Amino acid sequence: MRAVDIIRAKRDGNALTREQIAWMVTGASDGSVPPYQLSAWLMAVWLRGMTPDETTWLTDAMVDSGVRVDLSAVPGIKVDKHSTGGVGDKTSLIIAPVVAALGVPVPMMSGRGLGHTGGTLDKLESIQGFRTRLTLDEFRAQVADLGCALIGQTDEVAPADRTLYALRDVTATVESLPLICASILSKKIAEGIDALVLDVKTGSGAFMAREDDARALADALVGLAERSGLRVAALLTQMDVPLGRTIGNALEVRECVDVLRGGGPADLVELSVELAALMVWLGQGRPSLEAARDAVREALADGRGLAAFRAIVQRQGGDVGMIDDPATLPQAPVRDMFTAPGEGYVARYDAGLLGRAAVQLGAGRARAEDAVDPAVGFDLLAVPGDRVVAGAPLIAIHARTAADVAAVRPMLAEALTMSATPPAPRPLILDRLGLAATR
Ligand code: URA
Repeated sequence: MRAVDIIRAKRDGNALTREQIAWMVTGASDGSVPPYQLSAWLMAVWLRGMTPDETTWLTDAMVDSGVRVDLSAVPGIKVDKHSTGGVGDKTSLIIAPVVAALGVPVPMMSGRGLGHTGGTLDKLESIQGFRTRLTLDEFRAQVADLGCALIGQTDEVAPADRTLYALRDVTATVESLPLICASILSKKIAEGIDALVLDVKTGSGAFMAREDDARALADALVGLAERSGLRVAALLTQMDVPLGRTIGNALEVRECVDVLRGGGPADLVELSVELAALMVWLGQGRPSLEAARDAVREALADGRGLAAFRAIVQRQGGDVGMIDDPATLPQAPVRDMFTAPGEGYVARYDAGLLGRAAVQLGAGRARAEDAVDPAVGFDLLAVPGDRVVAGAPLIAIHARTAADVAAVRPMLAEALTMSATPPAPRPLILDRLGLAATR
């Protein structure tokens, strides 16, 4: 085969064969197809799209470029969750241990934050000593022993995706549904899972800001996951305002511990219960979705989820004292307050702007190689719907320096919308797709 023929076929709008796609992906992983031809091919795919079959074959080829983790020694249906990312999106730390505590294994591989969205690995690493890099043998053993491990993608998982994603990033070919879907799902399938719950977010803090785009992504992901043999359910959720009351790594761990102790903000609890219940139900841990919801609420209320999280932290080398007493998590040296400019209702905090303000403080990274500051971020003391007087505390700022506080103040002012009348309540869960749509 020749790369030029495959590029020309796609350029002219033809569907490729399984063999042609596998040949290009092999070329991406072993270097036998040069980056300029891979880039031309990616642009042809961006322009012409792929059929469902082509997307499935691309996903298979990307999985086959690395190892597929063999979890057959762990009994039960293995379930993971993928979120397309948001601001204050911390549900993984809550739902992975709760689902494992209910007997459904969760081999979870997560990512780091990039741009204004946070990442599970960064949050976990704010716990002193927590190791997110385990070998695949350690990963398998921990899932067998504890029912859950929380790690980063290892080098062996879908290596072709790393090469292709790096090229997409610099050739304006990221925003392509078949390329996005194959990228996300190849990494999930390679983890060795049987079922997947997707949280596809829309709004200013999401990867897909427009609801139509997010819905198209959710549809495409569900279709591809089903064709790839996974049991799958998806939620389309609102990410126009941050999830929960905290943004920033250690602050978010503290909030997750609150939820695992049976407390926490209503929106975070609602989404965590729904996602965890879907995982338990897909994993056949309970006979119905309603029974799964009840089981999740009980495991949050009686401390089984917290005990599972503590065991995971301990096993991965983290300081469990920080879970027992979240006040010992990293603390920022400078605390300041953003207050209400006038009397009225808090109508909205723009999630995208608050996410960018958190990156400005050091809570996130602008480039993949940047380090994050675990301690900095925001605590939302008043949330949409709250009535406040002028000067009332709205956002506690946790910063490294006073100059950082000064830099983010105008961003917070821009992110805030006040109103004279109560804002209309916003539904958090906008739609359900896949198996969940029928229940
Ligand atoms: N996340 C991924 O892993 N891949 C994409 O292409 C987009 C988002």
